[in-house]
Amino acid sequence: MKIETQEIPPTETLEQNIELWFKAGAAAVGSGDALATFLELRAALEAGTLRSAEPDASAPTGWRVNAWVKRGILLGFRLGALEEMNGCQAAGNSLLSFVDKATYPARRFAASDGIRIVPGGSSVRSGAHLARGVVMMPPAYVNAGAFVDEGTMIDSHALVGSCAQIGKRVHLSAAAQIGGVLEPVNASPVIIEDDALVGGNTGVYEGTIVRKGAVLAAGTILTRGTPVYDVVNGTVLRASADAPLIIPERAVVVPGSRAVTSGHGKAMGLSVYTPVIVKYRDEKTDISTALEDLLR
Ligand SMILES: CC(C)(COP(=O)(O)OP(=O)(O)OC[C@H]1O[C@@H](n2cnc3c(N)ncnc32)[C@H](O)[C@@H]1OP(=O)(O)O)[C@@H](O)C(=O)NCCC(=O)NCCS
Repeated sequence: MKIETQEIPPTETLEQNIELWFKAGAAAVGSGDALATFLELRAALEAGTLRSAEPDASAPTGWRVNAWVKRGILLGFRLGALEEMNGCQAAGNSLLSFVDKATYPARRFAASDGIRIVPGGSSVRSGAHLARGVVMMPPAYVNAGAFVDEGTMIDSHALVGSCAQIGKRVHLSAAAQIGGVLEPVNASPVIIEDDALVGGNTGVYEGTIVRKGAVLAAGTILTRGTPVYDVVNGTVLRASADAPLIIPERAVVVPGSRAVTSGHGKAMGLSVYTPVIVKYRDEKTDISTALEDLLR
């Protein structure tokens, strides 16, 4: 990557520098200072000392989005030129070849990091944090700005999208898709809190928050526009203009359906998909969700 002398003097803190270089637009490209600022942010994201969203008891949802951090992640995409990235080498020839932004190569790990990444096509992008005790089964992908906390299992074909926040001891089952969001920068990412179980083939998108200990049964899909019927309390949970869809603590959500009650849909006898909270976690759920302690 081309690095030139500084064109805009950097200010004191990382946040100020990120804002400065983000505002600089195309003028930041090629600046060594802009790159150094981004690399400082990327290292802090990887270490988990800085997050794109973090718990904040004073925020209405209990989580605060750090928009400046997201601007910093976007800055990294602007600063990075496309670069050839070669995989394993054999007899001088690269077996695999990739092309991506130079600022976001795949992360490398050592045994001392305390993370298990089982061989076979998984990738963790730079700028993502994995805490000790995380296990990744192949193939799985963790995108930039994501935060995955201690003891979480990321099973095969799971995706942790950009800036998604995954708590401690979460189980992301096979093919669970956790949507990412970079823009708009104030958009809240998907948040899966501690001890949640996200079943196989689930999809959690558009800033949905899954509270502690909740269980999403296999095949559940949650978006901003998905109403969730809580048959325990007789309520319907929805996102609003200023709050995402929130699945309560320990709720057990299964994929269901409900009849269309008007218009042609009713006349045609149709029903639509709807997630249903059938119960709140009990001992039976704990038995059903005890998956892989012996494998760890
Ligand atoms: C949700 C789950 C954990 C079961 O939890 P549980 O507390 O044992 O649930 P229960 O068996 O007590 O069922 C409660 C109610 O929900 C219904 N239900 C349970 N799982 C359901 C599912 N997946 N889809 C639709 N309904 C379901 C039951 O029929 C029961 O309803 P009923 O009382 O009217 O018969 C389990 O179904 C599940 O999806 N596990 C995750 C599987 C998975 O993805 N594994 C990944 C391995 S990589």
